[in-house]
Amino acid sequence: MKKLEQIYEGKAKKVFKTDDPNLVIVDYKDDATAFNGEKKGTIVGKGVINNKMTNHFMRELAQAGVPNHYVEELSDRETVVKAVKIVPLEVIVRNIAAGSFSKRYGVEEGRKLAISTIEFSYKDDALGDPLINEYHALALELATKEEIETIKTLAFKVNDFLKAELLECGITLVDFKLEFGRLPDGTIVLADEISPDTCRFWDSKTGEKLDKDRFRRDLGHVEDAYQEVMRRIMGK
Ligand code: TMP
Repeated sequence: MKKLEQIYEGKAKKVFKTDDPNLVIVDYKDDATAFNGEKKGTIVGKGVINNKMTNHFMRELAQAGVPNHYVEELSDRETVVKAVKIVPLEVIVRNIAAGSFSKRYGVEEGRKLAISTIEFSYKDDALGDPLINEYHALALELATKEEIETIKTLAFKVNDFLKAELLECGITLVDFKLEFGRLPDGTIVLADEISPDTCRFWDSKTGEKLDKDRFRRDLGHVEDAYQEVMRRIMGK
C-alpha cells in the first residue's frame, strides 16, 4: 500500500490517495476547532487517541452488524479506509439533553430524554451545518428515502452498542455525531470517526465531562480527559 498525494484536508484529519482507487488513508491531526472553525487550538496527542479509539469501535461495530469503512490501522495516526462518497448529513443521536439541544429547547443539560432521538444537520461549513429535516434532505437530493431509513437504523444500532460498552467503562454516552458514506456500489456504510471529538462522554458517577466540551467551553484538563477515556475503553 502506497501513500500518494493528499486529496483533502479537514479540520481534524487529512485524507490521502493510495495506489488502490478503492482505498484511502486517513491521517488524524491534533488540531481542534469549535464553533465552525471560529475557535482554534491544539489538543496534544488527540490524533493518536481518536485514530485508535475510532478503529477500536469500528472493528467491534462491523462484528455487531454495522458495516463501516474501516480496513486497517497503519500507524498511531494513520488508517486505511474504504473510499466513500460522504452523504452530506451529520447524524446526531442523543440520550441525554446537552449542547445545542438544551439551548434550542430550553432544557437543562443532563435531563435524560424519554426516548433516544435522532436529527440531521446539512454538512455545509459555509452555512454552519444547519439543522435539516428529512423532507428537506429529500427535496435537496442529499440522500434517498431508503438511504435515510438505513442511516437511522444503523445510527440507533451504534447507539445501543456504544451505550452498553461505555457503561461498562463507567462512561455515560450523552450524544454523538456520525457520518455515513456510499461505496461505489451504493451501499451505505458508517464512515468518519467515533471519538471524544464527536461524542459527549460523561463520567457515570461524577458527571465529569470527558470529551471535546472541555475544549469548547475552556474547562481545562482537555488532554487528561482524552487520555482517561482512552485508558478506560482500551485499557491504556
Ligand atoms: P450539539 O449539541 O452541539 O449539537 O452536538 C451534538 C453532538 O455532536 C456532540 O456529541 C458533539 C458532536 N458534534 C460534532 O461531532 N461536530 C460538530 O461540529 C458539532 C457541532 C457537534
